[in-house]
Amino acid sequence: MFNLAVQYLIIHSCVWVFASGQSASNCAAKETCEECIQDINCAWCINSENDNGGQSVHCNPKNESQNWCQQSDLISPSMSIQVNKDLDFSNDIDNPVQIRPQAVKLSLRKGETYDLRFKFKSAANYPVDLYYLMDLSKSMEEYKDNLATLGIQLAETMMNITTNFRLGFGSFIDKRELPFVSTVPQKLSSPCVTTSKVKCVSPYSFKNHLSLSADYQRFVSQVKAAKVSGNLDSPEGGLDAIIQAMVCKAKIGWREQARHLLVFSTDALFHIAGDGKLAGVIEPNPARCYEDDADYLTYDYPSVSQLNYVANENNVNIIFAIVKKGNDLFTAYKRLSLNVKNSNFGELSDKGGKNVVHLVVDNYNKIVQSVKFTHDAPAEVDIKFTSNCNSAIPGRCGDIHVGKEVDFVASIQVRDCPTDGSLARRITIRPEGLNENLTIDLDLLCECSCSSPGHASFKRDSEQCNNQGNLKCGICDCFEGRFGRNCQCDSSLSSSDNVTNCFMEGSTDICSGAGTCKCGKCECQNNNKNPNQRIYGQFCECDNYSCKREGGLLCSGKGNCNCKKCECQAGFTGDACECDESQVNCIAPGSDIICSNHGKCQCGRCECEMTDNNRYTGKYCEDCPSCPAQRCEELSHCVQCQVYKTGKYEKTCGIDCTAFETIVLESLDDNPVDDIKKCKIPDNDTCIINFDYYYKGDNNLVVRALKKKVCPEQANVTAWIFGVIASIVIAGIILLLIWKILTSIHDRREYAKFENERKNLKWGTGDNPLYKEATSTFANPAYKRNSVRMSK
Ligand SMILES: *[C@@H]1O[C@H](CO)[C@@H](O)[C@H](O)[C@H]1NC(C)=O
Ligand SMILES: *[C@@H]1O[C@H](CO)[C@@H](O)[C@H](O)[C@H]1NC(C)=O
Ligand SMILES: *[C@@H]1O[C@H](CO)[C@@H](O)[C@H](O)[C@H]1NC(C)=O
Ligand SMILES: *[C@@H]1O[C@H](CO)[C@@H](O)[C@H](O)[C@H]1NC(C)=O
Ligand SMILES: *[C@@H]1O[C@H](CO)[C@@H](O)[C@H](O)[C@H]1NC(C)=O
Ligand SMILES: *[C@@H]1O[C@H](CO)[C@@H](O)[C@H](O)[C@H]1NC(C)=O
Repeated sequence: MFNLAVQYLIIHSCVWVFASGQSASNCAAKETCEECIQDINCAWCINSENDNGGQSVHCNPKNESQNWCQQSDLISPSMSIQVNKDLDFSNDIDNPVQIRPQAVKLSLRKGETYDLRFKFKSAANYPVDLYYLMDLSKSMEEYKDNLATLGIQLAETMMNITTNFRLGFGSFIDKRELPFVSTVPQKLSSPCVTTSKVKCVSPYSFKNHLSLSADYQRFVSQVKAAKVSGNLDSPEGGLDAIIQAMVCKAKIGWREQARHLLVFSTDALFHIAGDGKLAGVIEPNPARCYEDDADYLTYDYPSVSQLNYVANENNVNIIFAIVKKGNDLFTAYKRLSLNVKNSNFGELSDKGGKNVVHLVVDNYNKIVQSVKFTHDAPAEVDIKFTSNCNSAIPGRCGDIHVGKEVDFVASIQVRDCPTDGSLARRITIRPEGLNENLTIDLDLLCECSCSSPGHASFKRDSEQCNNQGNLKCGICDCFEGRFGRNCQCDSSLSSSDNVTNCFMEGSTDICSGAGTCKCGKCECQNNNKNPNQRIYGQFCECDNYSCKREGGLLCSGKGNCNCKKCECQAGFTGDACECDESQVNCIAPGSDIICSNHGKCQCGRCECEMTDNNRYTGKYCEDCPSCPAQRCEELSHCVQCQVYKTGKYEKTCGIDCTAFETIVLESLDDNPVDDIKKCKIPDNDTCIINFDYYYKGDNNLVVRALKKKVCPEQANVTAWIFGVIASIVIAGIILLLIWKILTSIHDRREYAKFENERKNLKWGTGDNPLYKEATSTFANPAYKRNSVRMSK
């Protein structure tokens, strides 16, 4: 019985945990150390004294651990942070430091969040590499000449911003293949009609004229010396050139620690991935530095997302400086810029691009005045940025200037433990466009040290596990085929199990017929398809769905079903909690008498009295049709004689009916008192008399009757008979009439037809073919001169 009570206790606490929401941890339900520590609120004890229903529980709420576990036995890995590298901010030209700290080591448990604080400070004189990539088709000649003169100004302005500035120059035309350029030999060597003194050179895909250098005089001379070229179609191979300029790091001379700007200047659209097919080039762009020129004809143009990826990988900020030649061109580059991270877009003015210096400086300022942090955390780690700079975009700060320190917080949370057992993660947090980072070496605390053979508590083939398993973190890890707390059970021998302990007292069914006996314990058959129904108990004798129902609801919805019995809420009793203990429902409205004094309030309902003569009914036992108070029948005889002069006392009314005088009324609709009794008594076979009565004052009886009896109207039999006969006759006459009308209409039609035909008859004059003239001519062969003619 004690065990049962414990079972109830466990069940109840489980229900409570469920009811109180997901946040509460059910530590006791965790069976292994790993499961336990993957819940941030729980801790594992190797040798647990904590007793719960005769079974020691190893996993318990962490905050109370000192009460139930010796410190040496406790497994509860805790968060730790160690800063490995934290150089001071530095403006050093070769080694600028703008982010602090630079490297940390962090250990976190699943569900735990650590707020990592770090700072960013823009360094003065931070190195800047600017590579100017120009379309050198014939139409760009004017812009090239202006760039040559503006080069010095550009360099000086930039050097005003940072003394550590390097400038480079490159150009592009397109792939040397039809239909992009003409491959007719003389066209290939000199593709444009040159009127000016500038020589037109053979087209090329990309040419690096000047690697990044601080010598801006050379920039000017190189731009001056660069020769224009020509091609056939309007789009150019610009994307090919951008990729090359970004990935050929050594050739271009990009520095690791520097801001990388690439100004891309053109007046034409660009070819993208797929366009190569026009020239039979189908190999996708590999986004790597080409060894020789033939590679341009081997690989297709890059795609926009490739461009974005490469620019981001190499921390290059692209500035698209586009000649305003048409709206299509402009929108195309604007949209390209939107799809490439950290790129900007500007217009080269029609005065030969003289605003290029402004454009570059403005965009440079735009770039350096804001900082945005990104991370490369794997899916199981969640990182969210916040900062002290009131920015709408987390992890981004605008309005940064040299020397200003900005604080950031990266909230790092481990969402999940990996299943493959690899627990180390390297995460970098870095400002976009800058080649500096904060490296986090993250350790996921998902495993228990006591699970590995090296731990002191780990015992192979432990006696405690009947030599059938390893003792691991204080519990048995049974070998295959064994189970049970001490690996005492053999799964292959379940049929020959000792079932002695699986019978409930007085029962002949194993596990009450609702479970199987496994290793001396009942395993109840719970149907997973119906999670609302649960069988439980040491002998599976309990369930939470076989309680009494009332109104279709288990325990009337007023209690819990526990072990086939309703546990009612306060105020309710009964097998199905159907009884409301309060008596409110037994008292008629406007009264304070329980069940009108004619019954008992039972279970929230009146149970009315019943004697030999009287039978009280009604919700509040307020009705009693057979009681003396219900005197309709009794009073009706006097009402009959007094009002209608009929009935039993017709002759003796004055003698027998003296108790009251009936008031005669036209209508009985008004009710002078509430408990007025209405009576309807049949007078004779057909009529009903209507009256009512009530008590006034000291039981003075008042009887009121309707002046007229209610009689169903007498049916007039003769009228009925005549009516039926008349209607039959009328129906007959109507039928005759219809017949007459129809026949005369038919006759008229036939007559008219006849008349018509008669009129149309025509009598022609002619010989009757049947008629034979009655004249015969005879010739007398003997008669010669005179012939004899005979007439009719
Ligand atoms: C432990 O935490 C639980 C819930 O978070 C709280 O109810 C309980 O009071 C805490 N116990 C101690 C000793 O802090
Ligand atoms: C450089 O800065 C100084 C002072 O701020 C200014 O006078 C000068 O005109 C700037 N030079 C250029 C080329 O912008
Ligand atoms: C982060 O910075 C270190 C040097 O500070 C560098 O070695 C490492 O490659 C950088 N990592 C990334 C992903 O940029
Ligand atoms: C079964 O278990 C009961 C109680 O543990 C024990 O008394 C009985 O001897 C066992 N029977 C067998 C066949 O082992
Ligand atoms: C029975 O128990 C299960 C499991 O605890 C629960 O989900 C279900 O709601 C319970 N059913 C009733 C009717 O209380
Ligand atoms: C019933 O009452 C009506 C109206 O008073 C009367 O005309 C009729 O004769 C009565 N019938 C019998 C059978 O008493």
